Formats: sequence, structure tokens, C-alpha cells
Amino acid sequence: MDVKNLSNDFGVEITNFDCSNKIQSDEIKFLKTTMQNKHFICFKNQKLDGNLLAKFTKNFGELEAYPEKDKTKGKLEIFNVSNISEDGEHLSPDDQRVILQKNNSRWHTDSSYRYFPSSFSILFGQETLPEEATGGQTEFSNMLKAYEHLPDDKKTLLEPLHQVHSYNDIRRLEPGLPELTYEEKSNFPPVSHPVIRVHPDRNLKKSLYFTSNTSLEIGGMSLENGKKLHSWLVEYISQSMFCYKHFWEQNDLIMWDNRVLLHRVIPYDYSKYRRAMIRGTVEGNVPVLGPFSNEIRSTV
Ligand code: OGA
Ligand code: MN
Repeated sequence: MDVKNLSNDFGVEITNFDCSNKIQSDEIKFLKTTMQNKHFICFKNQKLDGNLLAKFTKNFGELEAYPEKDKTKGKLEIFNVSNISEDGEHLSPDDQRVILQKNNSRWHTDSSYRYFPSSFSILFGQETLPEEATGGQTEFSNMLKAYEHLPDDKKTLLEPLHQVHSYNDIRRLEPGLPELTYEEKSNFPPVSHPVIRVHPDRNLKKSLYFTSNTSLEIGGMSLENGKKLHSWLVEYISQSMFCYKHFWEQNDLIMWDNRVLLHRVIPYDYSKYRRAMIRGTVEGNVPVLGPFSNEIRSTV
């Protein structure tokens, strides 16, 4: 296994390592430590299918299931992040599966609509864009660093605030999507998470935690001010000093920490280019704690 840093702050590239093999316990330990410290890993030149990706993902925890039924023909635990159908057909840009890809171009962290959001997502690039295409990269922004550099007045303003994360509200941003069933809505009622996240596994270090893929406002203030603050945050975390962009090569397998990074796909021409990826998602088992959570207040 060869490991190389991708930027000063976060991200490593790993070559000469086969994720389809049985991974030894010392290797899992090394990968977990690397995720804790570097937040992003790109494994080059992998050979995987859905089953092998599920097997690799299980080294890090339980697999999270897709929140909607019958949208993929494959396993519900392996998501198709793709503008290609299971049968290889290039889907039209108004197909619901493509609309969901467009929603991925808004900054987010995966499954924030759950009380226990996902810890890691693991994405395998089966078909990636040709070099001459524009867009199609996956961009990441480091919320630990973004918090550190926030002006003091913004830290104070954000400290007590929450955002509502609602799976159903993706329909508000993307009205072209079909309605969820009653059962799907009931399984995923809105949750709220603190905008300042406290990490008990990092000596109570703080980071930002918000998304743009289910709502475009911060709560606890008037709608107008909530929208303004949200736009400010989006612009702030998009600064290149916080970001790293992954330029895909076919058979890259990337893995990121949803507790620390936000991500988005850079839009591309969805009808001109095929892009097919499969994702394994590691279920989270801790809530998003904020400065006023009882678990945090009782430790300080
Ligand atoms: C995802 C996601 C981004 C991409 O699968 O969670 O946001 O580049 N994907 O496709
Ligand atoms: Mn995502």
C-alpha cells in the first residue's frame, strides 16, 4: 500500500491496494485512523461490483439503506449514483434518477435527514466523464477548517442555531420529483441538527454542519434572515482555501467522512455524457451534537 497526501489539509491517495480482497484488521485500523485524520481517501485502480463494494463498506460499519423503495433494481443498500439505468440506458435529464443527481450538486453531507446521519460514504466510479468534458468532479469542503476561520461575530451568531433537514423537502427544491409515499414520509420526518457541531471524538472540537440539498435556510430567525445567513454560509465554505476537488479517473474508489466534509458534484452536461457510480453508505450511530446538547454540557 502506498499513501500520498492530496492537499495540505485533508485527503490522501492510496495506490497498490486491492479493496476487493479481504482486508486485514491492521489495515482496517490504519484506514479508520486515516479517515479520522485526513477525512478523504481515494483508492486508485479498483475492480468492484455492487456485492464487493457492499463487502468493503461493511469493514467500517452497517450499510445504510436507500430511503425510497423501488427506485433501483439492485440492492437497496448500494445506491446508483448515475444517469444510466440498470440496463445501461442513458436516462433523459428529466428522469427522476437524474434529477436526484442534479440535487447532488448542492453542498451537502449524506443522510443529514436522519437523526443518526451516515458516517462514511464510499463511491466507486464505474463510468466517468471523458477528459475534455467540463464538470463531473466531486468537490469537498472541510468544515473543521471552515469553523476555525469563521469571524468571531459569526461564531457567536451561529452557536445556538439549528437547521431543519427534511428528506421530503428535496421535493421543494426539485419539484420534478414524484411524491414520496406516506410510508416513506413517515419513516423520515424532518429532523433538526445544530449548525455548530461539537465532536466528542476530537476533544470537543467544533465544525460547521449544514446542507443545501434539502433546505436553503437556517432556523431560529425570520425566513428572510435565515435565507441570508444560509447564502452567506454557502459562499463562505465554497472558498478554495477550504476545498479539494476530486478529478475522477475510471475505477477510482473514494471514501469521505460525512461528519467533517460537505460535498457536491460539479454539474456537467447530463444529456451529453454518461456518468455511472455506485455508492455504499456506512450507517452512523451517533447524533449530531451541538454546544447546547446535554451530552456536551455535562462534559464541560
Ligand atoms: C453522493 C454524491 C456526488 C457525485 O453520492 O452522495 O453526492 O460526485 N455524489 O456524484
Ligand atoms: Mn452526497
